Amino acid sequence: MPTTGDALNATQLDPRDGDAIAAWASSAQELIDAATTQAELRDAKSEVFGDRSALVLANRMIGKIDPKERAVAGQNLGGARKELNRVFEDRKALIDAQAQAEVLRSEGVDVTMPSQRVPVGSRHPLELLIGQIEDFFLSMGWQIGEGPEVEHEWFNFDALNFDADHPARQMQDTFYIDGTTVGGVDEGDASLVLRTHTSPVQSRALLEHGAPLYVAVPGKVFRSDALDATHTPVFHQIEGLAIDKGLTMADLKGTLDHFSRAMFGEEAKTRLRPSFFPFTEPSAEMDFWFPQKKGGPGWIEWGGCGMVNPNVLRAAGLDPDEYSGFAFGMGLERTLMLQHGISDMHDIVEGDLRFSRQFGLYGKGR
Ligand code: PHE
Repeated sequence: MPTTGDALNATQLDPRDGDAIAAWASSAQELIDAATTQAELRDAKSEVFGDRSALVLANRMIGKIDPKERAVAGQNLGGARKELNRVFEDRKALIDAQAQAEVLRSEGVDVTMPSQRVPVGSRHPLELLIGQIEDFFLSMGWQIGEGPEVEHEWFNFDALNFDADHPARQMQDTFYIDGTTVGGVDEGDASLVLRTHTSPVQSRALLEHGAPLYVAVPGKVFRSDALDATHTPVFHQIEGLAIDKGLTMADLKGTLDHFSRAMFGEEAKTRLRPSFFPFTEPSAEMDFWFPQKKGGPGWIEWGGCGMVNPNVLRAAGLDPDEYSGFAFGMGLERTLMLQHGISDMHDIVEGDLRFSRQFGLYGKGR
């Protein structure tokens, strides 16, 4: 800030001397106009208009001068004060406007700036499908069951009427767990496996709840397959089990038709082809009619099913003369691929969010 202020204060102004007052006023104006901040303007203000300013001191002299000269002196000082007030207000308006503009600039938000995106997760489409399936079975009054993924060989095979030498037990299909302790308890000769299907939960649910029982079990299963376009060593199944008095294959067929419509649309229906599973008799492969099938409507294999084998009921402590029932199981990856025309299993298992996001963040169901 220029030091004209000192000169201003040093000057002893004679209020009668119009030229001196004009000269002083012009350096006062320079001082005001030199201020660039609100603080500098405040300093200039006290130098030009303050108690000890030349202006105020000269004003006090008016009372002491010859009364005839007072009018001219008053006009001299009043005119200078008025002009300096105007200069001051103009300067103040300018500096205030600049300060305001600076605030707007520094606190402003540029809505065109690219935002910092916080990536939001996405529920896996398989989880969404499981939620829909659970809702479907709950709406029919069934319950949802679950069982361990590391399973006793007994539940995975023996309780389900697999012979001791059944080929499915062989190492090339089943992942066996090294060591024989479960929860710190020595299990002796019993082996643990990664369950190869959700069917062991049939026996677990029957032992836990008894009959009658209507239970659906979605879950992860494991087989020693290599990952390719249609296989994965870790996949999911939905198991269904209904045990009651007087259940027949008609109940099985009706349930499957209803389920196929919930999964694939109103025109879907199922058909059964004779097959074999140790834990059902009779057993069937189940196909469903899929109008949206690639290359035209047709039958597509969906899973296995049958009437629960009496040996399975006996292993769960039930009397096969009193109770009967049906069971079914299908793959969920396969179901998802058919529903959405997904041709490569890799898309489902690799967990790429760009894939999952297409199914909606929250999806239907849970
Ligand atoms: N557990 C059988 C499988 O994994 C499917 C199935 C379930 C068959 C229930 C019959 C009854 O292939």
